[in-house]
Amino acid sequence: MDEESSETEESPRPKLSCSGLWKVYGPRAEWYFDTKGYRIDAEDLAGRMAAEGHIPAVVDANFEVFEGEIFVIMGLSGSGKSTLVRCLSRLVDPSAGHVFLDGEDLLAASQRELIEIRRKRMGMVFQGFGLLPHLTVLENVAFPLRLQGIDRGERDRHAREMIAQVGLEGRENAYPAQLSGGQQQRVGIARSLCGGGDLWFLDEPFSALDPLIRRQMQDEFLRLQEQLQKTIIFITHDIAEACRIGDRIALMRAGRIVQLGTPADILLRPANSYVAAFTREVALTQAIRAGDLANAAPAPEGAPIVDADAPIESLLGEIARGAQGFEVRANRRAGGGLSAEAVLSVLDGAAP
Ligand SMILES: Nc1ncnc2c1ncn2[C@@H]1O[C@H](COP(=O)(O)OP(=O)(O)O)[C@@H](O)[C@H]1O
Ligand SMILES: [Mg+2]
Repeated sequence: MDEESSETEESPRPKLSCSGLWKVYGPRAEWYFDTKGYRIDAEDLAGRMAAEGHIPAVVDANFEVFEGEIFVIMGLSGSGKSTLVRCLSRLVDPSAGHVFLDGEDLLAASQRELIEIRRKRMGMVFQGFGLLPHLTVLENVAFPLRLQGIDRGERDRHAREMIAQVGLEGRENAYPAQLSGGQQQRVGIARSLCGGGDLWFLDEPFSALDPLIRRQMQDEFLRLQEQLQKTIIFITHDIAEACRIGDRIALMRAGRIVQLGTPADILLRPANSYVAAFTREVALTQAIRAGDLANAAPAPEGAPIVDADAPIESLLGEIARGAQGFEVRANRRAGGGLSAEAVLSVLDGAAP
């Protein structure tokens, strides 16, 4: 098979992956690992590290993030989310394990190569926005291009386009302090757009915003992603936000990923009572989509057609009017047949 035909294959390609990834803080953190792996074979190695005065901030993380996916890392404050993404972008060096970007070993890159990789292939948006206060909106957005040595005319032209894309036209000459939190966040996003990378890390980008603005930003973000098709690693401590935004969610507790799955997996099939406790805060009829429940069984004759990403809330009216089932039209989620019974079982809190 030549390269071109493998390009057109259906199966998603991993953009970023990690295996056996650990980050341990503390006086003798390196002692626990050698070049071949763990130095000691303890049943609960992380527990032993903690007992010996260390903080195992990331414990044996293993996952792949696929091209074009929104991969959410979710967990309470202190669960290791930021440390995990810093390891993935190598802003901190992991204690052990591997990170692969487009199949290349990121940990083998030199400091010089890393700077290039981060500038050209990654975008980062942080909770504090990371804007430079003494630069205008335009200068902040154009900043990654300035670092790349692109001349002023061209970088300003490009930056203006990105500013328009996030709806901040007319504010090019404002300073960050003159903008609202939501507007500052948009500047951060426009700046990442200018960086041009196709892998984005967003660390709690909306956490500092008021709930209403936050919802607007989520909508805008999803709309932008529809056009851009970036690969996105999105951190949040808010399960509702995770379910709204994520294609898949990795749920962390004390450094460990305790469940990795789609929002529907997490909500309907929680791995344990810890995960289940989070999901009680989520309105299931809004978070579960038709495609999450669809299966290969054919839809009843003449069944209403619904999109796979329609929240099941929007099906309840038809069910009340007597619909026995639906034909689910695939989009990002799978299609198929969906019985009214399966929809109603979610309302009862039972997994279908
Ligand atoms: N540079 C550091 N030195 C020591 N401990 C750290 C450092 N950074 C983070 N930690 C600890 O690692 C754990 C995970 O932190 P963090 O990744 O920031 O969590 P989160 O982003 O989920 O809030 C916490 O216990 C935190 O105190
Ligand atoms: Mg954090």
